Amino acid sequence: MEKIEILFSKKEIEDRICEMANQINQEYNNDEVILIGVLKGSFIFIADLIRKLNVKNNVDFISVSSYGDKTETSGVVRLIKDLDHDISGKNIIVIEDIVDTGLTLKYLVDLLEQREPKSIKICTLLNKVCRRRVELNIDYIGFDIDDYFVVGYGIDYAQKYRSLEYIGNVIIQEDK
Ligand code: IMP
Ligand code: MG
Repeated sequence: MEKIEILFSKKEIEDRICEMANQINQEYNNDEVILIGVLKGSFIFIADLIRKLNVKNNVDFISVSSYGDKTETSGVVRLIKDLDHDISGKNIIVIEDIVDTGLTLKYLVDLLEQREPKSIKICTLLNKVCRRRVELNIDYIGFDIDDYFVVGYGIDYAQKYRSLEYIGNVIIQEDK
């Protein structure tokens, strides 16, 4: 069994996303941007973020797999679904739910850079800096967190808990 302990409430998430959107609005101004959501974990974050943007935007999704149903990355990233858009010459922001070792994003950024976008930025709601295994420059960070395994607000544990409105820390309890 697992127990979930609240880390960020619905209100805290909402407020932080407004701040992040304001930052993006200021930086892109009149320039168009394509938000690229990394499925599935980012789907709720991207939906809330995009509704706070007043810059011209477009949305696309990409899907990669590295975890299966485990809580540790295997380090091997596989492309499951590619983008629908041609991103060459476009401003793109890759939208992640959480950056852990950074291996997934490193793979994605390398892949997307080959397509020669005009600019590429990274935006993540959660950042587990202490777990990083590769160097990554993240442009927009919602919250830095310690080494917790988190769920909720789109983020899952073995496909569960995505629909929680808050973000919580999973505590695994041994069955007696
Ligand atoms: P990374 O490649 O190790 O940075 O892992 C990135 C991906 O692993 C994220 O996009 C998440 O989908 C998943 N992930 C990492 N940490 C967590 C967590 O605490 N809870 C749920 N999924 C996680
Ligand atoms: Mg993810």
